[in-house]
Amino acid sequence: MITFGKIKSVKGEITVPADKSITHRSFMLGAMAEGSTRVTNPLMSRDTIATMNAMKALGAEFIPAENGFVVVSKGYRFFQEPSDVINCDNSGTTARLITGLIAPAGVYAVLTGDDSLRKRPMKRVIKPLSLMGARMEAASNGTLLPLSILPAHMHPADIKGETKSAQVKSSVLLAAAQIEGRTSYTEPALTRNHSEIMLKSFGADISAEGNTVIINGGRPLTGTDAAVPGDFSSAAFFIGAALMFEGSDITIRNVGLNSSRTGLLTALASFGVKFELNYYENTVEPMGDIHIKHQTFSGGRIDGDLIANLIDELPLLAFLGMFADSPVEIRDAHELRVKESDRIASTLYNLSQLGAETEEFEDGMKIYPLKKEPAQARLRSFFDHRIAMLSILMCKRFGEKVSVDEIQSVDVSFPNFADILEQTEIK
Ligand code: S3P
Repeated sequence: MITFGKIKSVKGEITVPADKSITHRSFMLGAMAEGSTRVTNPLMSRDTIATMNAMKALGAEFIPAENGFVVVSKGYRFFQEPSDVINCDNSGTTARLITGLIAPAGVYAVLTGDDSLRKRPMKRVIKPLSLMGARMEAASNGTLLPLSILPAHMHPADIKGETKSAQVKSSVLLAAAQIEGRTSYTEPALTRNHSEIMLKSFGADISAEGNTVIINGGRPLTGTDAAVPGDFSSAAFFIGAALMFEGSDITIRNVGLNSSRTGLLTALASFGVKFELNYYENTVEPMGDIHIKHQTFSGGRIDGDLIANLIDELPLLAFLGMFADSPVEIRDAHELRVKESDRIASTLYNLSQLGAETEEFEDGMKIYPLKKEPAQARLRSFFDHRIAMLSILMCKRFGEKVSVDEIQSVDVSFPNFADILEQTEIK
């Protein structure tokens, strides 16, 4: 078991690693586009390296350049057949998005992943892509990785999304961009729109109206510049830390502030939390600085369409329930059951280890304020990067009586989490 010394506060100015979602997409679009794409400040983590390797397998070149890469490619019309199985490692985004990216390319490819990813649902992308003529076979009666993609002649379609998932939407859009004709995708709730923003900047004919995205596909995409902002989902751990550690005062610079990602700020504002945002001018993706100080706050109920805009921050919000003045309740969040771990189960396991009173629902959880400091707690990461980072925060909050079984999994999204946290620590 791993322990850490107790810290009092987190203070200072930090930058967090680059956005994982935007890095995946810049590597994928760099490979789909003709010519050179300059990717500045990409996240180099286990997840995004899986995407880079997949794009190399299709024939794209990644030439190291200052603070990033130049991706050189002949474009999607010239994708080569991968000579081996593509391993998506722990990355759901890689697996779901490249299923759509490869399906119309006329090549045979097989995708697999690690123990966690091979348990996560793939039917959600297989179904809409099949409606567009894709041919694929997958394990466990067509639901799980490994998944084979067979050459197919795909056609445009009007797709009604059944899952509130940016991965599913993006998978359809990456296929549709390559298929001659008009495809529309209507999502059940607005999810992150990085794919739409980026497809446009690579020259796709794409527009959005309400919850429907329309793309006129089949035109070549052109290489461009892609600068990756800091990851709001990584910044969120420091927003949370400021609220957990008394006396904290944190400024996080260069953070992506796309409103389809910042649902945590909406939720916290509804809990009475005060913070300052300073938006930069003229950026492709909204970005800026976040300033937050320690303060007391109430709880509340978070549900409905907002859930899609803070999906990766829900475990953090649940942990914050221990430090609020009243319970935090999260509902309509079934999707948490199929993330890197079952995040309702893994969050509640750790919260009850810490002595918090909790309730479990099929679609969420309710957490009551912590009545006394935990006596002893043995936390588990469930090999889930976000649960591992929350466990590290708890170890530092309560000192050596709290331990965690494993923290290597932070490499998936935030390899230098412990270093950045250390920069801010006041003992
Ligand atoms: C992601 C979308 C989300 C999120 C994941 C990254 C993306 O998944 O949980 O970490 O980059 O599109 P879903 O869209 O399936 O909820």
